[in-house]
Amino acid sequence: MSVIFTKANNLKGEIDIPGDKSISHRSVMLGALAKGTTEVEHFLDAADCNSTIKCFNAMGIEVEKKDEDKIIIHGKGLHGLKESEQALNVGNSGTTIRLLSGILSAQDFNSRISGDDSICRRPMGRIIKPLTMMGADIKSKENNDCSPLFINGKKLNGIDYISPIASAQVKSAILFAGMYAEGETSVTEPYISRNHSEKMISYFGGNIRQDGTKCIITPYPHLEGQKVIVPGDISSAAYFMVAGLITEGSEILVKNVGINPTRDGLIEVIKEMGGDIELLNMKDEMEPCADILCKSSNLKGITIGGSIIPRLIDEIPIIAVMACFAEGQTIIKDAQELKVKESNRIDVIVENLQRMGADITPTDDGMIINGGKPLKGAVLGSRHDHRVAMSFAIAGLAAEGKTEIIGSECVNISYPAFYRDLESLMQK
Ligand code: S3P
Repeated sequence: MSVIFTKANNLKGEIDIPGDKSISHRSVMLGALAKGTTEVEHFLDAADCNSTIKCFNAMGIEVEKKDEDKIIIHGKGLHGLKESEQALNVGNSGTTIRLLSGILSAQDFNSRISGDDSICRRPMGRIIKPLTMMGADIKSKENNDCSPLFINGKKLNGIDYISPIASAQVKSAILFAGMYAEGETSVTEPYISRNHSEKMISYFGGNIRQDGTKCIITPYPHLEGQKVIVPGDISSAAYFMVAGLITEGSEILVKNVGINPTRDGLIEVIKEMGGDIELLNMKDEMEPCADILCKSSNLKGITIGGSIIPRLIDEIPIIAVMACFAEGQTIIKDAQELKVKESNRIDVIVENLQRMGADITPTDDGMIINGGKPLKGAVLGSRHDHRVAMSFAIAGLAAEGKTEIIGSECVNISYPAFYRDLESLMQK
């Protein structure tokens, strides 16, 4: 499938952003491992989170869909999962395969776990190594540190792991395994990555604490089912925030967006670039959230690197688009992780923006963009990467002429209603 965009100014209106993907995945996982029921409101009903539900269904967990975005998980406790007859299929979801591997390593049964072509190219050595240090028996099929993974459940021991990368998926896999281990387990990261697992383990009654960039979990006999209200996903809100900033005469209000400080790097970047952004109706329930208002702005280039990178890693494709509309140079550095996302995002961002006429150069850990020249429409590939398709839809609205995005259906991974919501902002 492909979609076509032409220049659109005066984008106006409000968007209700779908539920946060990271929190939705974790609500199913922790709900399954808790005693009693967990009711989740504003759950993200999209392909990735539905893959997590299917994996738990295959291990005997009942998940009732009450509504499009309301689910009830019938938890069976920490030791209530059963062996799946088939290989568990995570589809395109890196969060599912990595976090689930932590849980499966500690079960008293064996598992096989795999996913689509993109998942089978993504590095799993980063979880195999620490889980093996904990006593797990986890192997990749070709011994190449890629899925399919074969996991023979074992008794685990706690470790103190110094992670070479700031990755919430790696940290969470270890913490989930740590819930079952003998003794304490800690993970120290170079910079703090998103902390939803820590917040939710604690919310479900687990025993977890933070000391600087080190997170420590002590096994606890059980988790208790909870009511979870998922905030809107800032990674999905990002497309509309940037659309409001880079198209002329626009004013977009994105409602109920999660602004956890480990996820809010984009807000900081927009402010530093001179963007007109306001946070309204701030509230703090399980996670802090706010409505975010963005208006057309004159932006300036900045340097983005260091500890902010894990706080905006999924937003870099749309930040690169935004940088093309900023006066001066934007440097994105310390972001090597982009190469091992759903696609090699350094490659695809540079290729697509060059096709649109941008002045952009790839570097080993990011890219350099000389902004301020108008973009022109082009035919672009999504590489089946949802964040690439959505970012270039916004680029297409801000560029001169016609932009076609091939493989546009991949937005179903995290935001099935994306094109419909975008259209709702266009003046009829
Ligand atoms: C996620 C963590 C991040 C992020 C991904 C979701 C999570 O990945 O890019 O989209 O839910 O834990 P890494 O842990 O690989 O940085």
